[in-house]
Amino acid sequence: MEEKILKLKEEILKKMSEIKSQVDVENLRVEYLGKKSEVVEILKNLKNVEESKRKEVGEKANSLRQEIEKMVENKKEELKELEYVARIENSEKIDISLPTEKSIGSLHPITITERELEDIFTSMGFTVEDGNEVETEYNNFEAVNVPKYHPARDMQDTFWLENGQVLKTQTSAAQNKIMLKYGAPLKAIFPGRCFRNEALDASHENTFFQMEGMMIDKDVSIANLIYFMKTLLSEVFKKDVEVRLRPGYFPFVEPGFELDIKCPYCDGEGCKVCKHGTWIELCPCGMIHPNVLKMGGIDPDKYSGFAFGLGLSRLAMMKYSINDLRVMNSCDVRALKQMNVK
Ligand code: DAH
Repeated sequence: MEEKILKLKEEILKKMSEIKSQVDVENLRVEYLGKKSEVVEILKNLKNVEESKRKEVGEKANSLRQEIEKMVENKKEELKELEYVARIENSEKIDISLPTEKSIGSLHPITITERELEDIFTSMGFTVEDGNEVETEYNNFEAVNVPKYHPARDMQDTFWLENGQVLKTQTSAAQNKIMLKYGAPLKAIFPGRCFRNEALDASHENTFFQMEGMMIDKDVSIANLIYFMKTLLSEVFKKDVEVRLRPGYFPFVEPGFELDIKCPYCDGEGCKVCKHGTWIELCPCGMIHPNVLKMGGIDPDKYSGFAFGLGLSRLAMMKYSINDLRVMNSCDVRALKQMNVK
């Protein structure tokens, strides 16, 4: 009997090694573990085995049954893996070098607008810098002249992290690092994603994009600020754009302004875009506060500069006639398709 068990085991091992399909594994399982299989027969007939050997034979037959079950299981897994590999190497293989039949994607309007602005600014000698999305409280607030308990902190409802850092509320958060990195003179723009805890509506989102810019040199004045902004916006709207400054309060600039443009769509006659108001508020800006320069390691007695924080999401919305800020982050292809993006 023991010999028979051994022989059976060898036989199964041999057959198992030759098997190539799940169906064959199942057939083998039935052949060796099914009701009429030899292993089951042995177990059924244990009572006929000589009593002194019965226990041993029983144990061997049982362990053979368990071994076969394990082998079947392993073989099934092994074949599944092989079939999967074969599938991805043959029928599901994707040749990524093949051209698509037609282009189904496009850049996001914000990306397009950002790249366009970067091109214009770099042609005027600005470098493009990166900012972090997670920032220290110091960079986001203190280094731009907004100390703890300053009421201006209330203007930006901030997402705080447990470690005391913040999701940056403004691209201004990179000003300090960039000044420390380059010193004066300096001409840089730094686009980025900003976050605020806003109640959402068509013009408020918790995630939006800005593009900050700074120019620092000897004798930089408001005239330079107006010149750069006018040149930039005329390039963006592909026509001569009229700008005006109104006083605006931001702790990091003195004086601070709101820069408006005369509606480029109706030339100020009144339309949906300017809400019949002739002017569109587009870009807060100002002359960099001496404290901010000092904290950035730049001597305010020698250097001056301007800074601005262009609403990139807003600009993209204007350019592509999008009237709800929320669709910008919605990842909804139907919305993107309607955005007239090429
Ligand atoms: N950081 C300001 C905001 O998000 C925008 C801003 C205003 C940036 C004036 C500037 C500036 O650089 O000079 O509300």
